Amino acid sequence: QHLEMELESIEKGGYEHFMLKEIFEQPRSILDSMRGRMIAESNHMMMAGIREFENKFVNADRILIVACGTSWHAGLVAEYLIEDLARIPVEVEYASEFRYRNPIITEKDIVIAISQSGETADTLAALELAKAKGATIFGICNVVGSSIARATDAGAYTHAGPEIGVASTKAFTAQVTVLTLIAMIIGSKRGTLETTKLHELMVELETIPAKVEQALKLNDQIVEIAEQYKDATNCIYLGRGYNFPVALEGALKLKEISYIHAEGYPAAEMKHGPIALIDEQMPVVVIATKDSSYEKIVSNVQEVKARKGKIIAIVTEGDTTIPAMADHVVEIPETSEHLMPLLSVIPLQLLSYHIAVMRGCNVDQPRNLAKSVTVE
Ligand code: G6P
Repeated sequence: QHLEMELESIEKGGYEHFMLKEIFEQPRSILDSMRGRMIAESNHMMMAGIREFENKFVNADRILIVACGTSWHAGLVAEYLIEDLARIPVEVEYASEFRYRNPIITEKDIVIAISQSGETADTLAALELAKAKGATIFGICNVVGSSIARATDAGAYTHAGPEIGVASTKAFTAQVTVLTLIAMIIGSKRGTLETTKLHELMVELETIPAKVEQALKLNDQIVEIAEQYKDATNCIYLGRGYNFPVALEGALKLKEISYIHAEGYPAAEMKHGPIALIDEQMPVVVIATKDSSYEKIVSNVQEVKARKGKIIAIVTEGDTTIPAMADHVVEIPETSEHLMPLLSVIPLQLLSYHIAVMRGCNVDQPRNLAKSVTVE
């Protein structure tokens, strides 16, 4: 017993929980997930799994993404990336709905299955279904040799290392990293992403691990914010564009481990329902970084402010407009909007972690949840 406890504390590497350790590992796991797959200097990208099916990807009429949970959120980020950079229509599906819907799948389709564990029953069944209809199946898994990895025609591993905490953190950013590389590769092969733009993105992607490191320095500030909201019963997360899936992911993290009811919404949809919930008790986390939807989200923040919601804003360093309206301002480094989810998710992971710890919750093994769901 004693030995077991000692072993566990060694595995946690000095951190109080696996989740915190895994959050802090992200500069490394993101780097490991892009290592060997691109050299910005010579504008070179390589990914064996894609090379094998290059023609299929280049000529694809559409790409279907199937996943569950946090992996589904990574799929949503990929929808923005692939449509924007490679101009191929993308549909992101909950594996559990897709498999029972009598979906239309053809031999020309590419199906990307995303799964940290590679064992999620619904995701596996969804890809088997698509495979039976002749689609090309591409896997993005973290666990080497897992069922999903073995069932695919090709794939690319995320190199996040073992993820123990039930709430997925470093697996998400590793998935987004690999999906970004895929979107860039297909975009450049299809000619929808110009060489200069590709190069800019590669150079920027290389700076991401250091910028994540910088975002992790927000930890102390996030502890203070968590103190103030740890007793909240509800919380709303808003984002637009690339930050919309991040809003969903932030809300999922909070409900999973702190048991606070949280909802993520595209900021503009707020007026179609959730705005009715906003009063002076309601914390609203707004991801409002400088990107193409910035001006739009400024007005969404004003709408929340007018209803006296408590605004926790995630903004780009140096922004002055949103901070003038917000109750709390969390500044993250500037980057291309295509890469922003890799940075904007960090403070949200930390916020949910600290709130859950303050509430006395079992952060690494939240009630009713499992790390991998092998039954439907
Ligand atoms: C479970 C886990 C989540 C995970 C989801 C999908 O619900 O608790 O953290 O996102 O399964 O798992 P997968 O292994 O397929 O990514």
